[in-house]
Amino acid sequence: MAKLFDVGLEALAGAPAATAADRPAAATVENAFSPLSSAAEFPPSNKSFYLETFGCQMNVHDSEKVAGVLLQRGYRSVEDPAHADLVLYNTCSIREKAAQKVFARLGDWKTLSAGKIIGVLGCLAQQEGEEIFERAPWVSLVCGSASYRRLPELVDELEAGGRRVMGLDLDTDETFETEITRRDNPFRAYLTIIEGCDYSCAYCVVPHTRGPERSRLSESILADVRRLADWGYTEIQLLGQTVNSYRDPSPRGLSFVDLLRAVADVQGIRRVRFTTSHPNNFHRGIVEAIDEVPALCDHIHLPVQSGSTPVLRAMRRTYSREEYLEKISWVREAKRSISMTTDIIVGFPGERDRDFEDTLSLLETVGYDGVFSFKYSPRPNTTARDMPDAVPEEEKSSRLAVLQERQRQIQIARNEKLVGSDFEVLVDGHHPARSQWAGRTSSNRIINFSTPHQNLLGQYAQVRVTRSGPNSLVGEQLP
Ligand code: 5AD
Ligand code: SF4
Repeated sequence: MAKLFDVGLEALAGAPAATAADRPAAATVENAFSPLSSAAEFPPSNKSFYLETFGCQMNVHDSEKVAGVLLQRGYRSVEDPAHADLVLYNTCSIREKAAQKVFARLGDWKTLSAGKIIGVLGCLAQQEGEEIFERAPWVSLVCGSASYRRLPELVDELEAGGRRVMGLDLDTDETFETEITRRDNPFRAYLTIIEGCDYSCAYCVVPHTRGPERSRLSESILADVRRLADWGYTEIQLLGQTVNSYRDPSPRGLSFVDLLRAVADVQGIRRVRFTTSHPNNFHRGIVEAIDEVPALCDHIHLPVQSGSTPVLRAMRRTYSREEYLEKISWVREAKRSISMTTDIIVGFPGERDRDFEDTLSLLETVGYDGVFSFKYSPRPNTTARDMPDAVPEEEKSSRLAVLQERQRQIQIARNEKLVGSDFEVLVDGHHPARSQWAGRTSSNRIINFSTPHQNLLGQYAQVRVTRSGPNSLVGEQLP
């Protein structure tokens, strides 16, 4: 998988020049970023929790909110699950491997869970439900993300001696609002604007695990953004499975583009990102807004999944190759140079050699700056699961390898062209051994750079690119 444009928190931690030790303490509610956050404000308690997150940025951010709920109830956060009263896994089930990983982790507690509450949150919880109690009887809490509103109540039940509690309702029109959110990333604040998904892509568990689409009120979102700006955040990343189908449910009725412009307008906000966009809801207005508003980042993640129209139809993606390419042409006509990244699945049932060739040719035609690519993995509660013409596993692997190599070459060529260009980076990492700092451009590229200055973390720096690789750039800070 190409790493340059990874859009997750794990990417930040894993940026080539950044080591965890060099990053400043996270902007948790316990430190100075938030006036709401001093430890003294939380009820004293000797209960502790450990929370591990698997999967996408939505999960990463849900975990920040779950941690907020627990901190507010007097729990302390601990780094070692052995020392925690409450051990929670916020899980992913998008592919079989992700689900297996969680069950392996749960297996660790088989003989060690005495005196602890072990809980499973997120997509696997929703997907497997009660089955989790069967497979891992030492688990006592199972709660899907569409039921997080009920978390405090579920924790109450457990504290009152409940043996097994579950929150699995999907028929909700509520979003997960918290008074306190623990912020684990000191440089980029995540903000969910829409939850769930109303599409029904044939391969995808998300509509089943996260429930129907629910947009948050624009006023709550903007109040959060203003608060984040007051706490010192300059970069906001708006989140949703289909972020660009956002529609303000309040009488103001802001469109996605209205909201983008309003967030970018908040004093102190210098960068606004959004992910993930669905091609069906992608229109010229988004490109026009990026062109007009410098704070809107010049990067769009627009998952295509396949370059073949028959495969897209079988996947129920609601657009053809040509329709997708038309949207790309709007991006390419923009005044700003906007970087493009995508997701691709290889080996969907019925994918022929010539379909795969179409995907390869799409990579060339679009010229992506990064691609997340996956082998198709059959999932429960999806229509593709029972489709005929499965592609053999070895064929999937070989297609994936071919695709990744092709994309690597494209990135090498695209990045070489950037040598000599200047970028503004938000500095988020330091590697003293290499005397290098690391940061991200508005287009989400990673640049490792040298500078005579000290203490740059969290600051913006102007950097000239001197060298390039497939996944990152090297540069020098401009005086
Ligand atoms: N198999 C493989 N990849 C999948 N994705 C979603 N469901 C599956 C599946 N069943 C990929 C899609 C999506 C990304 C988050 O994960 O590319 O955009
Ligand atoms: Fe899954 Fe499709 Fe919804 Fe994305 S749009 S979350 S791929 S069903």
